[in-house]
Amino acid sequence: MHLYFLSAATVFLFYTIWSQPKSRLPHFDETLRDLSLGDINFLHTTDTHGWYLGHINQRQYSADWGDFLSFTTHFREICHARDSDLLLIDTGDRHDGNGLSDLTTPNGLYSSDVFMEQDYDIVTVGNHELYLAAVSELEYNTVVPRYGDRFISTNVEYLNDEGEYVVFGNGRYRYFTTEAKKYNVFALSFMFDFKGGNEKVRVTPIDTIIKEDWFLDLLETYTKKSVDLVLVAGHVPVSHSWQELYVLHGVLRRFFPNTPVQYFGGHSHIRDFTLLDDKAFALQSGRYCETVGFMSLRNIKGDNITIDRKYIDFNLQSFLHHTKRATIEQFNTDEGLLVSEKLTNYSNKLKLSESFGVVPQNYYMTGADYYSNDSNSLLRFFETDILQELEPKICHENMDPIRPPPSNSRIVLINTGSIRYDLYKGDFNRNSQFIVSPFKNKWRVLQNVPARIAIRIQEILNKGPYILEDGIDSTIDLDELLSPYQREINSRMLTLKLRYGQRTTDDLGNDGDDTIHRPLPQFAVPNVIQSFEYTDQQQPVDVVFYDFIEGYVLWALQKACDGDNLLYYSLVQQLTFYNDCEQEYNVGELLKKYSLKHWQ
Ligand SMILES: *[C@@H]1O[C@H](CO)[C@@H](O)[C@H](O)[C@H]1NC(C)=O
Ligand SMILES: *[C@@H]1O[C@H](CO)[C@@H](O)[C@H](O)[C@H]1NC(C)=O
Ligand SMILES: *[C@@H]1O[C@H](CO)[C@@H](O)[C@H](O)[C@H]1NC(C)=O
Ligand SMILES: [Zn+2]
Ligand SMILES: [Zn+2]
Repeated sequence: MHLYFLSAATVFLFYTIWSQPKSRLPHFDETLRDLSLGDINFLHTTDTHGWYLGHINQRQYSADWGDFLSFTTHFREICHARDSDLLLIDTGDRHDGNGLSDLTTPNGLYSSDVFMEQDYDIVTVGNHELYLAAVSELEYNTVVPRYGDRFISTNVEYLNDEGEYVVFGNGRYRYFTTEAKKYNVFALSFMFDFKGGNEKVRVTPIDTIIKEDWFLDLLETYTKKSVDLVLVAGHVPVSHSWQELYVLHGVLRRFFPNTPVQYFGGHSHIRDFTLLDDKAFALQSGRYCETVGFMSLRNIKGDNITIDRKYIDFNLQSFLHHTKRATIEQFNTDEGLLVSEKLTNYSNKLKLSESFGVVPQNYYMTGADYYSNDSNSLLRFFETDILQELEPKICHENMDPIRPPPSNSRIVLINTGSIRYDLYKGDFNRNSQFIVSPFKNKWRVLQNVPARIAIRIQEILNKGPYILEDGIDSTIDLDELLSPYQREINSRMLTLKLRYGQRTTDDLGNDGDDTIHRPLPQFAVPNVIQSFEYTDQQQPVDVVFYDFIEGYVLWALQKACDGDNLLYYSLVQQLTFYNDCEQEYNVGELLKKYSLKHWQ
């Protein structure tokens, strides 16, 4: 550990930057690892989910999309000056998770416009481009034409207005020659086996595509052409535990036994790099504009390909360092500044920075231990302070508002999947509300549940199967995807004098992060959490829960009733809405209500 700390390049001290008004620069005493450029280089983003404004309360990830534009402009110049190539790749999930994308109709109207300022070489879709028909339409009608033949999709199709399925992109593949080294690249793009798409889209799973004649013919055709590199941009995790890329790789190797294959992955929101064989590499670049993935290949036509991969923290310090700029004035480009201005304009239009209060401390989802009641646990905070903000109210349904007996106790139950991101010290604004929880659910209630039964529901649910949140990346088995290293630090906290941040271990070791961090611990989280407003033991309990988990709650209730089916059915018969005002009372709104009262 110490060795790394000493041997890594020492960062420049950009004294001049201290005088900048907008202090978005992180800590200058952090040590950065340098990138090793190759003959062909890649910058990769994935799962941005609309975070183009940057992370306002986390300086580590505080660069915005305009800064990213300036970064790639300089980086391209550096590569070209060395007569090497640079390709930019995005592997999807650009919607859902941020006010900038979620507050417009359709979702992504402004955020797509910002995203499209970047000049990508390969762009593809993620599952979050496929949930809502309006979002798929927006993507197909604006983002696809913007990138032309650089928007590809091998296994996703779109139902156009003429009622025929066409490729979700300009082609199923792209064959092109790089500018500097004149490499011939054969690029494909795959979506994982996703079944939750809207009626206008169709995903053919990889293990079906690989048996289809047109696909095998396509591969056959290109074995007869000159291909120096096969490139696969996938919205698929690159992890060894995810089978799909391996299935695909087996087929690619049948046709291209000796050609280097470079994969880019996504979806599981982690930094990762895997080796599929000695000439096949796979990079995955995190989530939410926290990471720009860097990959380089040298000597790709030889037998000893040299590679490098780095996870660049999405901040100005890293961006300046890797482009060798000493000051922000040298770094900013006119195009970058315009994009930042555009972001400010959109942010103003949506009132994203309208403040509802100031968060006094950091609260973590998995970075604090819920089970030991850590005061930094976001989930405990929801249980003790936030869920109490819920009140009964009826907006839509044609019925009388609930008037629960005031003497009843109340349990408010949510699945932890409905909370999506940490809450950081600093301004709590309209944007933060969407970041912590973008979901809009209604509340249901089981009234007058005997206390002895009500208090068992949470425990039963937490012992039950993992509850998946529709709309987030629900096919992820979280535990599966924690690297062995991350699991290890759950039990053994490291105490180096480094700042908290991501520390990644992948197939090449643990020197991938450009910034050397003290790892954030990863604690286990329960399936569901609940507040319990207790009157007394004799009183029945109103059990209130997000409608999304109704099936799970009824299952748990039946178990808690211990074979007393009469009781179970009588309770279920009274099941009704407690609050159906999802705009006013979803979890993000509860947090806002609390903030307005307590964080002024
Ligand atoms: C490895 O590749 C380099 C070019 O990057 C070449 O100069 C060198 O001779 C190669 N070494 C071996 C052992 O093949
Ligand atoms: C931002 O808004 C201002 C004021 O309306 C306008 O003058 C400017 O052109 C806008 N900038 C961009 C990049 O859209
Ligand atoms: C944490 O708090 C809960 C609820 O208040 C309590 O039941 C539990 O015993 C506490 N656990 C620890 C380790 O303090
Ligand atoms: Zn995602
Ligand atoms: Zn995804």
